[in-house]
Amino acid sequence: TFFGTMYTSDDRGILFSKSLERHLFDGQRKSDFTNITSLRGVYLTNKLDDSRIRSVISFNRGGTWRQLSKPENCNLHIHGEHSRNNRIVPMLALTEPTAVGLVIAHGTVGDSLSSSQHPDVFVSSDGGYNWRGTLRGPHHYSILDSGGLVVAVEAHRDAQVKTIFSTDEGQCWKFYNFTKQPFFFAGLASEPGTKAMSVSVWGFRPEDDGQPMWVAVTIDFQSLITRETDQDYEEWLAHSSHMKGDQERNGCVLGVKETYRRLKKQSVCRNGRGFVVNKKQSPCLCTREDYLDYGYYRHKNTSECVRQSSAPNKTLEMCLSGEEDELLTAYRKVPSDRCEGGFSPQLAVQTVKLVLILVCVGAGVVVLVAVVSAVFTVKRMVYRNG
Ligand SMILES: *[C@@H]1O[C@H](CO)[C@@H](O)[C@H](O)[C@H]1NC(C)=O
Ligand SMILES: *[C@@H]1O[C@H](CO)[C@@H](O)[C@H](O)[C@H]1NC(C)=O
Ligand SMILES: *[C@@H]1O[C@H](CO)[C@@H](O)[C@H](O)[C@H]1NC(C)=O
Repeated sequence: TFFGTMYTSDDRGILFSKSLERHLFDGQRKSDFTNITSLRGVYLTNKLDDSRIRSVISFNRGGTWRQLSKPENCNLHIHGEHSRNNRIVPMLALTEPTAVGLVIAHGTVGDSLSSSQHPDVFVSSDGGYNWRGTLRGPHHYSILDSGGLVVAVEAHRDAQVKTIFSTDEGQCWKFYNFTKQPFFFAGLASEPGTKAMSVSVWGFRPEDDGQPMWVAVTIDFQSLITRETDQDYEEWLAHSSHMKGDQERNGCVLGVKETYRRLKKQSVCRNGRGFVVNKKQSPCLCTREDYLDYGYYRHKNTSECVRQSSAPNKTLEMCLSGEEDELLTAYRKVPSDRCEGGFSPQLAVQTVKLVLILVCVGAGVVVLVAVVSAVFTVKRMVYRNG
């Protein structure tokens, strides 16, 4: 069908809830799911809507999804594995945990992902909330110096290849002709991780005898960017691009807000080899948004948890351990949510009747020893919203 449903599990990995329907899932059993590793809780992927491919992003580990916005009522759509497989783009979206907030990807602006339109390169510096077009046409790109430096090479099959680089996450690009003798570009390679400040461009050059000769050129930016000072850093509150105005909740995702120390965009300065991601975490006050449970949905207006009419009935309570273990409580803290204080679902004691059927199983032979039907009155803890 070229699509499937994506589910996310609870913190115990037992119950799964629907996260995204019509998730693009091609014939090679691959999806466009991308973990944006440069910002906590952000996932990017594509879905199939009326045979159109559209990009969606989640900032809360798949809890909710939305389209990527661009001005003028248009949406940005990001090419994923599906497009790379079809040779529409040479590279997937690039993110690195050490380059906090930085995302580089190929995309097109419009109603849906288009394969006829040339993909351009877009950059986000806040983990996918805001995007800007940075390079026309497909490129190969690489993140160096923990995000302090971005290098790109145009992905066309012409002989003349040029390297361009940016020290401000793609706001400005500088050209560099790294060789006088042109060659056919094959790839861009750098040391794994992002600490390196050098990149190798490799390809081949046809020789007179008709045999191609492999060429690799290493460009070292070390001597170009030497500045390393404290004044070039700023504090950045992650996830602060949404919920503006609500100071208390601003930046809160899954109960925590995080402030990072990042290089200012304008500074031509390097993070250096010794760079480590520096972040401060503080817990947020809990709200209803921090709670949800399987079989419930969030009421749009009140954010109260409402039972789904299609959800399985109460037998789910017993099927795991045979005890009156409450599997569903309406308000269970969202997995990995670390909020403190604030809203707390109030406990109420409700009496329900459960019918227990005891079945004993003999050695090899199924012997129904006794079927005891008893009506137990069990005190059942039910969370009611306070
Ligand atoms: C996404 O990446 C982060 C950071 O590398 C990692 O901790 C997390 O487990 C990843 N999540 C998924 C669903 O791959
Ligand atoms: C790079 O090479 C092109 C020709 O291929 C030339 O027009 C341009 O001036 C060169 N740029 C630099 C900075 O040398
Ligand atoms: C939510 O509120 C809006 C306006 O305040 C109203 O139009 C809509 O019907 C409400 N939705 C539900 C499900 O009650």
